[in-house]
Amino acid sequence: MTSKTNLTINPQRLWDTLMETAKFGGTPKGGIKRLTVSDEDKRVRDWFKAECVKLGCTVEVDEVGNMFATRPGKRKDMAPIAMGSHLDTQPTGGKFDGVLGVLGALEAMRTLVDMGYETNAPIMIANWTNEEGSRFAPAMLCSGVYAGVFTTEFAYSREDRQGITLGAELERIGYKGKHKAGSIKFQAMFELHIEQGPILEAENKMVGVVTGVQGMRWYEVTVTGQESHTGATPMGLRKNALLAAARMIEAIHQVGMGHLPGVASVGLIENRPNSRNVVPGEVFFTVDLRHPDDKVLDKMEVAFRAALPKIAEDTGVSFEEKCIWTSPAVKFAAPLIECVRNGASQAGYTMREMASGAGHDAAYIARVAPTTMIFVPCLGGISHNEAESTTLEECGAGSQVLLNAVLDYDRTLA
Ligand code: GLV
Ligand code: MN
Ligand code: MN
Repeated sequence: MTSKTNLTINPQRLWDTLMETAKFGGTPKGGIKRLTVSDEDKRVRDWFKAECVKLGCTVEVDEVGNMFATRPGKRKDMAPIAMGSHLDTQPTGGKFDGVLGVLGALEAMRTLVDMGYETNAPIMIANWTNEEGSRFAPAMLCSGVYAGVFTTEFAYSREDRQGITLGAELERIGYKGKHKAGSIKFQAMFELHIEQGPILEAENKMVGVVTGVQGMRWYEVTVTGQESHTGATPMGLRKNALLAAARMIEAIHQVGMGHLPGVASVGLIENRPNSRNVVPGEVFFTVDLRHPDDKVLDKMEVAFRAALPKIAEDTGVSFEEKCIWTSPAVKFAAPLIECVRNGASQAGYTMREMASGAGHDAAYIARVAPTTMIFVPCLGGISHNEAESTTLEECGAGSQVLLNAVLDYDRTLA
C-alpha cells in the first residue's frame, strides 16, 4: 500500500499530454478550435478513450455523448468519485479551458495506476458534451441532461447556426451511447479548471478554492427593420436594424456597468443581408447576463427589457426577444470544498476562496451530487482566446490538488 505522500503527479507528463491533444483542432495561433461533436471532437474523444482503456478503465458513453472512464476501487458496492470537465472548445479557444480538467484528471488516474494505489471507491473521469454552448446553445447542455435540467430530446434538437442538430452530429461521430443520461452514477465530483479571470495571478495565489458559480441568463434578440438602398434612402426615412442593434448593445453594456460586479455581453451578431450598399433589414444577436446574486440578475433583466422598446421606437424597427436559458447561482458542497483546502495545503500551495464567473458543468452536477471545483491561474486572466496560457507548474499544481482532494474524500469512506 502506498502512503498518501508518495502520490505525486507528473507535471511534465501532464504538459506533454496537453500539448499532444492540442493538435486535435489546433489553430495556427496556438489555440484550439474543437467545437462540440465535430470531427476534431471525435478525434480527441477516441484518443481519450484509448488512453483510459490502457489504464485498465472501463469507458462508457451515455445517450448524449457524456463519457465516463472508471477504475475500480476496493468497495464494489460504492459509487465512484468523479473528476471531470470538457474537451470541447470555443471557435477561437485556448488549450486549457475544460481540457485541463479532463487531462489533469487523466494524470491523477495515471498516477494512481503507476503507484498501484487502491482507493476505497472507484475513481471516474467524466468528459461532458457541449459545455461551451458555442455551437449549440445553451452551455453546460449535457451535464444539464445528466442532472435532469434538460431532456435528452431537448439536447438532441439543439441546432447550430447552420441548422444541424446535436442529435444528428452525435450519431454521425459515433458518440450517441447506449446508457440513459444520468444512469451512470457517481457520489461526488471535483472539477479542475483554469480560473479564466485575473484574481489568482494578481494576488500571486496558486489555487482557487471555488465556493460556487454565479447566475447566468441567455437571451436571443431579432431586430426587424427594412432593407433599402443606401444611396437612395434619405437618413430620416430609414428603418436600420443594425443601428437599432448597435444602440441596444450599448444599452446592454450599461446594464452590466450599472450592476457591478454583474456582467452583460453581446457575443454573437448576424446582420442581414450584410451587403455594403443595403440598409440592414434584420439583425440577430445574443445576450449574456451574469451576477452572483439571482435577485440582482432579476433587476438586470428588467433593465435590459426596459431599454429595448424605446430604442426600437426611436429607430422605427420592431424586435422580438426571448430568454433561452437561465442557470441560477450555485453554492458548492462544504465537505468537498474542505477536501480541496486540505489538498492544497498538503501540497504546500497558496490559495484563496473565490466564486466562478464562468459557467461550468459542476454547476449542474451540484444538483445531483456533492460537487466542487479547483482553479489555477491563467496568464492575464485571458480565456476564450487562442492566447490562453497557463504554465506547466500551474497545470501540475491543479492536477496534484485534484488528486489530493479526491483521496482526502476517499479516505472518509474507509
Ligand atoms: C462557458 O464557458 C461559459 O461560461 O459561458
Ligand atoms: Mn470550461
Ligand atoms: Mn469555456
